Amino acid sequence: MFFISTRRTVERFRWSKMLGGKNAMSRGRKRFLLLYLLLMMILPGTQALCAENAAQKNAEISYDQQTRIFRITAADTSYIFGVNERQQLQSVYWGQRLFAGDTIAAVQSAGGSSSFDLPINATQQEYVAWGGGLYVTPDVKISFGDGNRDLVLQYVSHQIEGNHLSILLKDVQREVFVTLTYTVDAETGILARCAQVENRTKAALTVEELNAATWNLPAASDYQLDQLTGKWAGEWNLQRSLMHPGKIMMESRRGSTGDEINPWFALERGVAQGEESSDVWFGALGWSGSWQIAIEQDYAHQVRITGGYDGFDSSYRLAPGESLQSPTFYAGFAQHGMGEASRLLHRYELHTLAPQRAHWHPRPVLYNSWEATGFDVDEAGQEALAEKAASIGVERFVMDDGWFGQRNSDHAGLGDWNVNSKKFPHGLKPLIDKVRSLGMDFGLWVEPEMVNADSDLYRAHPDWVLNFPGRPRTEGRNQMVLNLARPEVRDYVYGVLDHLLSSYDIAFLKWDYNRNWSEPGWSSVAMENQKKVYVDYVRNLYGILAQLRAAHPDVEIESCSGGGARVDLGILQLTDEVWPSDNTDPFDRLAIQNGFSYAYAPGLMMSWVTDSPNWVNGRATSLLYRFLSSMQGSLGIGANLKPWTAEDFKTAKTLIAQYKQIRPIVQQGSLFRLIEPNADSPYAVTESVARDKQQAVVFAFLHSSQQGLAYPPVYLRGLDPEASYRIKVLDGSLNGAVPTSASGSFWMHYGLHFNLRGDYQAAALLLEKEGVQ
Ligand code: GLA
Repeated sequence: MFFISTRRTVERFRWSKMLGGKNAMSRGRKRFLLLYLLLMMILPGTQALCAENAAQKNAEISYDQQTRIFRITAADTSYIFGVNERQQLQSVYWGQRLFAGDTIAAVQSAGGSSSFDLPINATQQEYVAWGGGLYVTPDVKISFGDGNRDLVLQYVSHQIEGNHLSILLKDVQREVFVTLTYTVDAETGILARCAQVENRTKAALTVEELNAATWNLPAASDYQLDQLTGKWAGEWNLQRSLMHPGKIMMESRRGSTGDEINPWFALERGVAQGEESSDVWFGALGWSGSWQIAIEQDYAHQVRITGGYDGFDSSYRLAPGESLQSPTFYAGFAQHGMGEASRLLHRYELHTLAPQRAHWHPRPVLYNSWEATGFDVDEAGQEALAEKAASIGVERFVMDDGWFGQRNSDHAGLGDWNVNSKKFPHGLKPLIDKVRSLGMDFGLWVEPEMVNADSDLYRAHPDWVLNFPGRPRTEGRNQMVLNLARPEVRDYVYGVLDHLLSSYDIAFLKWDYNRNWSEPGWSSVAMENQKKVYVDYVRNLYGILAQLRAAHPDVEIESCSGGGARVDLGILQLTDEVWPSDNTDPFDRLAIQNGFSYAYAPGLMMSWVTDSPNWVNGRATSLLYRFLSSMQGSLGIGANLKPWTAEDFKTAKTLIAQYKQIRPIVQQGSLFRLIEPNADSPYAVTESVARDKQQAVVFAFLHSSQQGLAYPPVYLRGLDPEASYRIKVLDGSLNGAVPTSASGSFWMHYGLHFNLRGDYQAAALLLEKEGVQ
């Protein structure tokens, strides 16, 4: 029996994996990584609100010598596979936790039913190479220098260490080894899987495809596939479709995560029973570069999901002795529907993946200048905004784009990270001092991976951008992508950011990335290494972020990509929050935030209150409605405060004070999507329940009321049925004679009856267990 190791061990393990394993790291990077790991060991890694962590269930990984069966059990989940007679790793079971006493028989590979149907395809394999007649998506595909492209992997050995299992596989003939790693999270049962290919032959080889894992699901014909699709300012649309035999390829060829489709999936069975009762298998990739997830269902309704680096246009040459690490593919199982699946992921993101601090502190309420001043920033204007922001209770003041180089529009300046001396004649210090004197900390916008043609950096180093020499260079928003895979570019980017953070009292970086790749050439390395750019770019990005975090451990970072185009479980390990969309209309935002919450925690999502009518769609809404919509995540203010009336300031001050009271519940609690915003319904309701069930917060929204149709009863969830909860209406009102306190059971079954009428109305409630202050 093996029990979970400390979370510090998990941290150490995760970081070395993320940066690509020992062979992939330069000495400089290793030094900084070691420094970071040292810091991680010093931090206790606990969080104030994570009460349930204290009573963690143990994770258990075991191997039965007789049956050759591996069993991974954690939380409410069991994951079982074995070694079959062909020495393949064969999946057996993944679902609700099984009793330890129930024995699992040894596995036998599946026989093909005809000559067209080779057994290698019919057997549900944990990890399979392209070779031996494989037609499904391979986990790994290799070309050898002698023309051979066949690879057949077999089990060699394994090692169990706490909550990690590693398994060594080897080709039937050649000295090509693959190490699979499984790490299980005791609290959620979520598994993290990755693979490392090692070339121990005497010649170079090329890895054409490398996936982290294949997940096999029980055969069934009633799977519903959930995916999140979108575009700029329209991210996080939930798509649901019935699975049928065939292959669905989810992919980004953009060089980064992208917003067209997020690297997340869920497969549900029994959806008709609702948000809290289907069986759900869900997963997400931790990779911020081009990626792929193939979902295949065969004639026998077996489903397999394979994900990792995108195979299109990328490959990785390994000299003898070198190895390549895949991204990590995370997946879990929930027996209480999509609601529970999301909550498990949220918990995992908040407590395991996201950077941990010695003491948990809530996400601060921030102000951002972008929608107020655009590129037109200067010392006096920003100070005036800062004074107003401080007066309503803002805790962090962030100056957005426009402060550097010749950045007066999006045509110039990216790459020149020196303070614009016309706008800030004395540097940023006077503004930062002012912000600090107002009791706020200071944040700054950067977009360090990009360059405008009109910049000193591009004039000096035109070869630093991704390009094919002699070919046209496609611009997006007048900018090009710096090739971060190049060591000198990496060093430049780290250098300018480190200099900024060392020179100024900066608490927060909004790290933007406003276009995707084109002409992804890297001509300064040998031809056979040029396609490594897809992997090496992202590794260097992660390396810069890790190095900055180690050198400036108090600085927080937001991942923004013109909205939500770089949100994934990779970037989330190195940043503290993400910007889900440039669309700040509070009604559109309800659906955006709802979609986001399927895969990512509301506590990681920044959400601004901006001006009305909104610039995106011209919709006019009240300040209250805008606030309540944004209070569903981490609250920010992005409005122009200059024309605000005294009444606006008063409303904002009251609402920000309310938000500070409820934010631990919103940011760290369990989310229940009670009524989802969708085109067929004018209603939307969310509930967040504190992990110890002491408090709950409810937000209710009405698009427009209709004569004769009252707001539907809202049945709360997740409360302690026998405890008494006192209700406090923060905004809006309830219908009729509602008791001020009643049992959790009452609120969950009798429900809440909101009195909302008119257009774009909203209400917020706080429920507290009696006796709680
Ligand atoms: C992107 C971001 C915005 C803003 C602008 C600045 O579009 O998503 O929030 O920072 O860049 O140019």
